[in-house]
Amino acid sequence: MNILAFETSCDETSVAVVRDGRELLCCEVLSQTDLHVLYGGVVPEIASRSHLEAIAPLTAKALSAVDGQIDAVAATAAPGLIGALLVGLNFAKGYAMAQNLPLIPVHHIRGHVAAAFIAEPDLKPPLLAAVVSGGNTLFMEVLDYTTYRIVGGTRDDAAGEAFDKGARLLGLGYPGGAALSRLAEGGDEQRYPFPVADIEGAPFDTSFSGVKTVLRNLIHHAKQQRDAASNGGCGRETGLDLSSLAASYQKAIIDALVTKLCAAAEALKYETIVLAGGVAANKKLCAGLRSQLGDRIHIPPVYLCGDNAAMIAAQGYYEFQAGARAPLSQNAYATFDAGKPLC
Ligand code: KG4
Repeated sequence: MNILAFETSCDETSVAVVRDGRELLCCEVLSQTDLHVLYGGVVPEIASRSHLEAIAPLTAKALSAVDGQIDAVAATAAPGLIGALLVGLNFAKGYAMAQNLPLIPVHHIRGHVAAAFIAEPDLKPPLLAAVVSGGNTLFMEVLDYTTYRIVGGTRDDAAGEAFDKGARLLGLGYPGGAALSRLAEGGDEQRYPFPVADIEGAPFDTSFSGVKTVLRNLIHHAKQQRDAASNGGCGRETGLDLSSLAASYQKAIIDALVTKLCAAAEALKYETIVLAGGVAANKKLCAGLRSQLGDRIHIPPVYLCGDNAAMIAAQGYYEFQAGARAPLSQNAYATFDAGKPLC
């Protein structure tokens, strides 16, 4: 069964076709980062308009690479920027209606987990999944392909958001996760102390707002001391070792993720653990999990970890098998519980 899928929840327009949830036939991804970099973050209206311009040509390109018929259409319906989601979902509705095909709404977070099913054809639930991206940090039990139980998540910023905000404070531009981890290379990760938050009664929940505040205060105080020393002059050196600062900040985020995920795996007795989402591109995070979990951790390749429609097609296949069929009145949602069905 070939599923054509659309992903437009944030700032990547993506169209893909996947066979039987596992075999990637084509995947087109157009990133809008260049459009948003000027503003230091994603501008929702620009994202929606850019999806509108990109989606038809990308669909034509994706379909031209596929030999064989399309059997169903899937689209991300939640969570994400609402205007951006509506572009992909409505385009999918139009295509499904014109071709008389079933339409399957897909939860973006479930899609991230399904990226692992494309990467590893033998991988199956039950498993414990962590989705760590710019917009989400969630730990979930995947009991079967469409039965999810949330066991933990962030109380404030997502892990990728913490990387991006830290990068911004360090003057690294947007999106800054990869740039911050490059700056951290060679730095001393013990040099600056950052807290790892523990939340009473919620052992698998994370919080990243504290580390961000510590970083902001360190930079602020260093600048104040510099300015006082130079009598308000224009001395630029703050005395901070930026590489070690980035390394220490990164360590705090990674330690929290590794500790909580491993604790959840032990407490809930999971042999198979999946890491997905854009932050899975972080080499230190992957190494930390591999050293604790060995062969039990499964991490899709980087091209399947960032936002893409292939993962939506893969999850769409399993939602279809479970009976999901969207009406043409299907809505999109900025937030939606990953444990609940979308239609
Ligand atoms: O999954 P994704 O492509 O989009 C969202 O759904 O958010 O994730 C993007 C996030 C951004 O916050 C980006 O800074 C972060 O993933 N990221 C990284 C790295 N590469 C991307 N964070 C830490 N280290 C990296 N190497």
